[in-house]
Amino acid sequence: MLNRNFDLDIKSNYSLEKSNTFGLDIASESFFIVKNLKDLKNILSDNKTKKITVLGGGSNILFTKFLDGLCLKIDLKGIDIIEENKNNVVINIMAGENWHDFVQWCVNKGFGGVENLSLIPGLVGAAPIQNIGAYGVELKDVFISCNTVNIKDQTEKEFDKKNCLFGYRTSRFKTIDKNIYIITSIKLRLTKEKHKYNISYGSVKQEIGNREINLESISNAIIKIRKSKLPDTNILGNCGSFFKNPVINESKYFELKKKFPSLSAFKVEKNQYKISAAWLIEFLKYKGRSIGNVGVYKNQALVLVNLGGATGKELLSLANKITSEVYYNFKITLQPEVEIL
Ligand code: EPU
Repeated sequence: MLNRNFDLDIKSNYSLEKSNTFGLDIASESFFIVKNLKDLKNILSDNKTKKITVLGGGSNILFTKFLDGLCLKIDLKGIDIIEENKNNVVINIMAGENWHDFVQWCVNKGFGGVENLSLIPGLVGAAPIQNIGAYGVELKDVFISCNTVNIKDQTEKEFDKKNCLFGYRTSRFKTIDKNIYIITSIKLRLTKEKHKYNISYGSVKQEIGNREINLESISNAIIKIRKSKLPDTNILGNCGSFFKNPVINESKYFELKKKFPSLSAFKVEKNQYKISAAWLIEFLKYKGRSIGNVGVYKNQALVLVNLGGATGKELLSLANKITSEVYYNFKITLQPEVEIL
């Protein structure tokens, strides 16, 4: 078979510094920007023996070492309204679109459902992988399906919502089918009228104040809150929340609450409590602390930051230090939300 690698612009020993929001200067053995489905299938079939890493916005990934194999940066573009009636629209969004730009597009057009997910960094294709969520809304609330390409045999497959096995910051693409499929587009159903506004979070309600509740005011409030809590990745390298909020059972929660009365937690299901990982980390006096080139952000204890010139290993060792101290003090094992490579 013809080796198409010669036709495709594959870069060797390519620095990923600009392709990850931690701003880590790690190189990949080879790197290719995917602009269409045909190139994606060709490059996968020509590189069957290589390890494939898929990169979206690089906003949920911690590189700790040289990246062997082929790194694919997804740059598939396009937003199309594919169905429309009086109440709803169904929109197909290609994986390489910027998530926040898409949210703003929806707010401007008057399409409701994703306004609470304003300013989440990263690309559309990454959104289902961890079922992105913020301020009481998760992607799964508006999700219909996603299209994928199988890395091994390049076949296309559509997964509907049920089949994606969404959970809190998780899906089949992060668990049973990790590294099997590349998400190429997603379909969402949004409202055109009778929007279901979600201002259940006190901080959102407070930020809106006396303003009228609409898509724009909610989006603006969330942008403001996120800007005040989360550092701008252009100034301070970070990946948003580094850890997930752990979920524990009721008896363990009552035991902890007795010992630590100010513990911040939320009931999620019968007998299940989601503990604020930020609270645990702050309690251990890590908030605002720096160790060498890395640290914990001063306004949000869940956010690890590159203070400049950090290595992935330094960030990982800070994460490990926090994880073991949290375990030692609370007997809770923190799980990273960020993918560690
Ligand atoms: N808190 C602290 N110390 C802190 C920050 C928070 O004790 O430094 C406690 C407070 O009690 C606060 C509670 O934690 O009321 C919740 O804080 P916040 O609203 O900031 O939310 P979070 O649980 O820390 C999660 C998501 C964020 C998302 C916000 C808002 C996870 C892992 N993180 O953070 O998502 O923006 O809720 O919905 O679920 C991300 O995934 O990258 C991300 C930023």
